[in-house]
Amino acid sequence: MRRIWYLLLILIGIILVGALFIWRNIPVGEPITINGITVPALPTLDQDLVVQGEPLYAQHCASCHGANLEGVPDWKTIQPDGKYLPPPQDSSGHTWHHSDDLLFSGIADGGDPSYSDMPGFRDILTDEEMNSILTFIKSSWGQEEREFQWWISAKDQ
Ligand code: HEC
Repeated sequence: MRRIWYLLLILIGIILVGALFIWRNIPVGEPITINGITVPALPTLDQDLVVQGEPLYAQHCASCHGANLEGVPDWKTIQPDGKYLPPPQDSSGHTWHHSDDLLFSGIADGGDPSYSDMPGFRDILTDEEMNSILTFIKSSWGQEEREFQWWISAKDQ
């Protein structure tokens, strides 16, 4: 009879360790190879950051990029004055084409005024807040977009 309890204890231990792996964002999937370059498996997103980023996005970004990250309808059309319009932040845009480094500096510094009205947020948001907004944005992407963006961020590390 005792042995069953030992086995049960071991089983619970295994389940707890498994849960810990997932919870600590330790990659559990397969490494990703694109163009012959392999990077570690896609980490899961930190859910605390997603939750923190959502209201910050609504407050600071939604007025231009849309309440549902949809951007403005004709965002692909360059304006007569040479300016770009706010693109979507979800999978339908091209935010996921860029590495974390590039996105982070883009949000911190804003756009070049010659073609963009995107303000910089370096003096308004902390690094952690910007990171949380980015994590919230990532949570809207599909698996393929997430994997590509992870790959392009991780390949130069
Ligand atoms: C006043 C309007 C405005 C606000 C507010 C704004 N943006 Fe933008 N954003 C733009 C415009 C216009 C562009 C396109 C031109 C460019 O890339 O700079 C852009 C581009 C971007 C890009 C580059 C997308 C790509 O595909 O290259 C990212 C990422 C981005 N914004 C994120 C944010 C985040 C995050 C916030 C809030 C913290 C924010 N923006 C707030 C107007 C805005």
